[in-house]
Formats: sequence, C-alpha cells, structure tokens
Amino acid sequence: MKKRFGVLVSGTGTNMQALLRASREGFVPAEICVVISDRPGVRALEVASREGLRTAVVDFTEFDSRDEFTEAVTAELLSQGADFVCLAGFMRILSRPILEAYPNAVVNTHPSLLPAFPGVDAVRQALQYGVKVTGCTVHFIDEEVDHGPIIAQEAVSVLPGDDETSLHERIKAVEHQLYPKVARWLALDRIRVHGRVVELVDEP
Ligand code: GRF
Repeated sequence: MKKRFGVLVSGTGTNMQALLRASREGFVPAEICVVISDRPGVRALEVASREGLRTAVVDFTEFDSRDEFTEAVTAELLSQGADFVCLAGFMRILSRPILEAYPNAVVNTHPSLLPAFPGVDAVRQALQYGVKVTGCTVHFIDEEVDHGPIIAQEAVSVLPGDDETSLHERIKAVEHQLYPKVARWLALDRIRVHGRVVELVDEP
C-alpha cells in the first residue's frame, strides 16, 4: 500500500508545495494525508485546502504544555495513518510523544548548514557572522532544537549584496529540491540511523 505522510506548517508553505508536487508527480512514492498547522489563517493552510488536502489546526495557544500540544499533533497524524512526518517551516518545538510514536520518522528542513546557526533567524545569523557559504540541512528531529541526525545537506554561496530575503530565497530554492529527495528516501525505507550517523541504503 502507498505510504502516507503528514506535513507540519506554520507559514508560507513553499516546502509543503514542493513535497506535494513531488508526490503528485510520483517522485515521492507516498501521499500527503494531512497538513497540520500550529496556528489558523496561514498561507500554507489556504494552499493545502485549495489543493484538496486534509488540513487541521492544532492551536498551540490552547494547550497548557508542550507535551499536551505534541500529543494532540501526534494523535492527528496517527488518526490519518501517517507513516512519516515532514516539518516544513513549522515553528514549534515538539517533545517526546511524537518521537515515541514516530521513531526516526520525523524530519525537518533548516536553512543553514547545521550544526552552524540552529534556531530561528538562521539566515540572519549566517549573514551577521559573515560566512561565505551557508545552505540547508534536512535532519531527523530529536529533543533538542535543530539537532537530530543529519540526512542531507546542500551548500549555498553568500553573494555580495545579499540580504536576508535574497539569501533565504536562494536557500529555499535548494530546499525545494532536497526535501523531496529525502521524502523519497523515507517512502522507500532507504534510511538507516546509527547513533548520529545516517546511512542511505540501496533501493529495494
Ligand atoms: C524554510 O526555509 C525552512 O527551512 C525554515 O522555514 C522556511 C519555511 O518556508 N524552517 P516555507 O513555509 O516552506 O515557505
């Protein structure tokens, strides 16, 4: 049976769109079963609805603790039969309940070459530090922010005159290629995790 995955969003949703396109074109042999946002009214939800995807809002402000919020997100994913989960611009930190329900099956894309510049404002941090190369990282989540085992990375040059917007746009263009690749590997069960080190095994 075709694999199913959930996408977690908070904002614009261009990575979700890249995943959807790749799924519909058959590059990712899995379908998006639900798009969950931690807040109402964001563009990503509008796009998802327009595309006929199931959407859900699990409003972070309605929960007393991170664990309770995470449990509600996890329950929605499980109820929709998600096999794996892609965080795509999702701005909340998730806790243990999702890691227990989805061991080595929740991935995130981050706009820097981790472990450099974790957290919010990764692109601004890179510009302020003055690095000449930054990029994006797709990694499994763990209980620390932007810290879990790294699956794939791509470099992006910082160009003279770059500001946060121009650099982030070029990074996002690379993420839109890299994230579907990782989703494909997950759908094909090609990823093995040995401690921090991720191995890509041959296609079955
Ligand atoms: C991406 O750059 C992602 O790495 C970061 O937030 C941005 C989300 O963009 N976590 P979008 O919502 O997918 O357009």
